[in-house]
Amino acid sequence: MGRIAYVNGRYTPHAEAAVHIEDRGYQLADAVYEVWAVFDGKLADAEGHFARLSRSLGELRIPEPMSRGALTVVLREVLRRNRIRNGMVYLQVSRGVAPRDHAFPTAPVSPAVVVTAKAVDHAAAEAKAAKGVSVITTPENRWGRCDIKTVGLLPNVLAKQAAKERGAAEAWFVDEMGLVTEGASSNAWILDRDGVLRTRDTNANILRGVTRLTLLEVIREAGLTVSEKPFSPAEAVEAREAFITGAGSLVLPVVQVDGKPVGEGLPGPVAKRLRALYIQRAKNTAV
Ligand code: PDD
Repeated sequence: MGRIAYVNGRYTPHAEAAVHIEDRGYQLADAVYEVWAVFDGKLADAEGHFARLSRSLGELRIPEPMSRGALTVVLREVLRRNRIRNGMVYLQVSRGVAPRDHAFPTAPVSPAVVVTAKAVDHAAAEAKAAKGVSVITTPENRWGRCDIKTVGLLPNVLAKQAAKERGAAEAWFVDEMGLVTEGASSNAWILDRDGVLRTRDTNANILRGVTRLTLLEVIREAGLTVSEKPFSPAEAVEAREAFITGAGSLVLPVVQVDGKPVGEGLPGPVAKRLRALYIQRAKNTAV
């Protein structure tokens, strides 16, 4: 069975799925996106991603393309048609198709909607988490509205490529104060020497990660101490543990920062426990 994508009201063979050359997402990155992790064919943290989607659209004054209910039907239908039980579903909403002009189209256009899905090999993901991943650091060079989940991801693309070329899975952006903001496609965390879990606060220029938010609840329920106090790469190296969170990585232990081992250089017990707790909760609350 070939893959199926949803494009502007139609379910199309993936190989033939296309948007117009004057889609503003394609020409100007005038588009937002969301990614949901999928467990047993259901959307993890559904509400959080829908809420952030509405916020991103609102910040860019792109109208909601359809109701949340209708969108849920489309996301589920793409999963069903691709027979995906575990994986990810991707949604992109652009301002629409119009003759190229930086300013918004004067005549109203409908937002363009694309949905794709992919399966994730559960065993491979668990093996990766059991081994842990390396990260590199790179100077923060993104625009000032990283809270909006836009497809304008060129700095993230270049950072991720630099990571890949150095054998790392993620790049952490470091701001002018020498503090880690977040990863190219994940939020960054450490368990510091005092046993406090730390991640950047959302007043900083970062994406308000949905996984991050759920994990904060999981951490509090588990009775662990957490502080939204930023950390430097040096503090990450001196930390007991480090990890990243996101719809793609879930909770993924980090064992090296810029080639230097974090703690023992192995996935730590707290990161492992939080991964298990997060996945359990995501499965239980998926819709
Ligand atoms: N990335 N920070 C950035 C820059 C991200 O792109 C992402 C997600 C996150 C984590 O957010 P969440 O927990 O809501 O997935 C943080 C997605 C998965 C992606 O670009 O594929």
